[in-house]
Amino acid sequence: MDSKKRSQTLTLSDTKTKKKKKPTRSEILRKKRAAEGLVSAASSVVDHLSDLDAFRYYDHEGLSVRLDCGRGDRLSAPVKRYIQNLLKVNMEGPFGPEWPTEEKAKRQEMVAPEARYIFVLDDSGQSMSKKSPDVGRCYRHEEDSLNLVGFVHFRFMVEEELPILYVYELQLEARIRGKGLGNFLMELIEVIAKKNHMNAVVLTVQKANHAAMEFYTRKLRYEVSIISPSRVEPSVGKNVSYEILCKAFDLESREVLEENLHLFIMVLFSYPTLPFMLINGQCCGQRGHEKT
Ligand SMILES: CC(C)(COP(=O)(O)OP(=O)(O)OC[C@H]1O[C@@H](n2cnc3c(N)ncnc32)[C@H](O)[C@@H]1OP(=O)(O)O)[C@@H](O)C(=O)NCCC(=O)NCCS
Repeated sequence: MDSKKRSQTLTLSDTKTKKKKKPTRSEILRKKRAAEGLVSAASSVVDHLSDLDAFRYYDHEGLSVRLDCGRGDRLSAPVKRYIQNLLKVNMEGPFGPEWPTEEKAKRQEMVAPEARYIFVLDDSGQSMSKKSPDVGRCYRHEEDSLNLVGFVHFRFMVEEELPILYVYELQLEARIRGKGLGNFLMELIEVIAKKNHMNAVVLTVQKANHAAMEFYTRKLRYEVSIISPSRVEPSVGKNVSYEILCKAFDLESREVLEENLHLFIMVLFSYPTLPFMLINGQCCGQRGHEKT
């Protein structure tokens, strides 16, 4: 994921159509304040897994892990080292020459007070503990870092006046990939986002990280957001190494972050027979006819 873009100022208002009535300044401020209130409440939750027992363990295809939570300003030295190392192993390739700069930024992001974590711990030798889940405990014990096999770093924040959950990192060791755990963790992230009244999940992916791009867009149905450089300004975006992806949970947020749906609905209202035309292949026929 790309650190530099997350809080960047490529604002949507520059690129939006002017058809909708512009909100007043006080409306924008009110919305922003409400979003900040939700972000602050979500950030103050100590254990995001506390009433999500179904997500505490993942047992599948011989993989047995348990999850725990944490925050950036409470990481022990061995956990910090583990995170730095896994990031380097997984991300040096996709970032290429940008890696040294990116690594520095990530080291700072990693320990920020706003950083929230889901830790993935190898649970293969601890089947008994499943029967008495350690509810409410937050990850901080140094010795546990030896069992780490991956992590998610996320934050609650305001983007385009919307409260959102931003996934900064989703990193698994190579040996535990392809067993559905990534899917499971993103499901958990979406549950946490909804439970805390966030309007969307947003994340950044390196274009060179084809596997992750496939995972998010094809499998999890994330959209390239309209705040992604490739959609804000395609001529600039084509030289940028990342995309911003999102999954919005309601119509208004989809309009702001994805826009496709908004356009689709507008087209649908203008041409109510369009779905039937598409099913019957009439659109293609018509285009073909126009060309001739
Ligand atoms: C990306 C990542 C988190 C995916 O986690 P994972 O546990 O390997 O993925 P899953 O096993 O849950 O796969 C879920 C689905 O995505 C698909 N998928 C996963 N990796 C894929 C790949 N490399 N290419 C194509 N599809 C892939 C799988 O086919 C699977 O679909 P299925 O259920 O229909 O079979 C993990 O591979 C990883 O940590 N990679 C390195 C770090 C990284 O790139 N992180 C993302 C940074 S933005």
